[in-house]
Amino acid sequence: VQIGILGTGTLAAALGTAWDRAGHELVIGGRSPDKAEALAGHLGSSARAAAPREVASSAAVLLAVPWTAAADVLRDAGADEGTMRGTVLLDPTNAVEHGVGVLQTPAGVSAAQQIATLALGAQVVKAFHLLPADHWATIHNPGTPPMTVPLCGDDSAAVTVVAGLVRDAGATPAILGSLHRARQLEEVAGFVIGLAFAGSDPNSAIPRIAAPTHAHTTPAAVQLT
Ligand SMILES: NC(=O)c1ccc[n+]([C@@H]2O[C@H](COP(=O)([O-])OP(=O)(O)OC[C@H]3O[C@@H](n4cnc5c(N)ncnc54)[C@H](OP(=O)(O)O)[C@@H]3O)[C@@H](O)[C@H]2O)c1
Repeated sequence: VQIGILGTGTLAAALGTAWDRAGHELVIGGRSPDKAEALAGHLGSSARAAAPREVASSAAVLLAVPWTAAADVLRDAGADEGTMRGTVLLDPTNAVEHGVGVLQTPAGVSAAQQIATLALGAQVVKAFHLLPADHWATIHNPGTPPMTVPLCGDDSAAVTVVAGLVRDAGATPAILGSLHRARQLEEVAGFVIGLAFAGSDPNSAIPRIAAPTHAHTTPAAVQLT
């Protein structure tokens, strides 16, 4: 899959590295062409820098920018004119108040659904918002516990593409259902971020519930609906 990445920061570099390792072709764009060139150069020969409008036409695009920048970045990429029509648009944003974790989006509305209204014809999939970026660098280290990436989206083909990208990065996808579940995923991230900033290990607040005894192997994907 040709993957476009809008943004040149921490998450762009982490997932770019993971997908480069898995053999994907990468197109990187950001508001700073120099930073896009630098990240593409860092990622290797299968990566190149391009203008945001060109990145937008990739088969799948990761929106690796802060929630507060999402509307401007999508507009710069021409998403309101249809440049992302048919594109699988991965939304990893966390629209949360820094350090507290309270969602900034109005009650009942998810960032992912708002992004879908800003990118005409794109197939938005909420994914990759929960795991800290540095986890992608260590995921293949011996002894690292298995990681699960919950995701949701309205288009089953787009969800299948993103589930594949989760596996390529080294984690197991857990498919929650359609995009109306995105708010729930975003609330979970706000809760986790809030605990972490308060100095508490979020894992200590989540009950460890043993998988069913028949689950001897890691499934290719967990389907919740
Ligand atoms: N880092 C993580 O562990 C992590 C994990 C899960 C999800 N996320 C989510 O992933 C997204 C990216 O996070 P990050 O950690 O990669 O952030 P980051 O390192 O701060 O990088 C942000 C990127 O967005 C660009 N940007 C910022 N404001 C912009 C604006 N107004 N217009 C255009 N571009 C703008 C930055 O460009 P400049 O360099 O030019 O400023 C940079 O390329 C966020 O929504 C975050 O919530 C992050």
